[in-house]
Amino acid sequence: MSKIEKCQIVELPKFLDPRGNLSFLENEKQIPFCIKRTYLIFDVPGGEIRGGHAFKEQQEFIVALSGSFDVVIKDGFGGSIRYQLNRSYFGLYIPQMLWRHMENFSTNAVCLVASSTFFSQDDYIRTFEEFSIQTQS
Ligand code: TYD
Repeated sequence: MSKIEKCQIVELPKFLDPRGNLSFLENEKQIPFCIKRTYLIFDVPGGEIRGGHAFKEQQEFIVALSGSFDVVIKDGFGGSIRYQLNRSYFGLYIPQMLWRHMENFSTNAVCLVASSTFFSQDDYIRTFEEFSIQTQS
């Protein structure tokens, strides 16, 4: 089984309310890890690509808080999948050791990444070549 199959779109609980809707996520419930860090990507100029790398340990959950963008995931063995995120109550779970980047950001898109790890440069695999070597060894 390709590790890509462990990626999963998760629909968050949604409380529809005439005053405005509400969704939430909790550690180890809607997502299979505990959040140590969240970060935002926003004001992305048209055509730009963010996040082209893999993580040795980090699992993550990515949500389009506003607007839309695509998440492209590669397994290092030729497998690839693209998810378009465009609703604030859907998120994408990505386990560690998959290559991913975000592209096709709409105007005003806001990308939330909830991470299982604190920030560490050592957790990054920054070239696809190195990622492929590590996954195939
Ligand atoms: P990076 O993850 O390399 O983003 P991209 O691949 O889209 O360029 O992060 C960009 C910069 O932000 C990098 O210099 C490190 C810094 N950064 C933090 O300090 N903390 C964080 O949690 C993240 C995600 C990045």
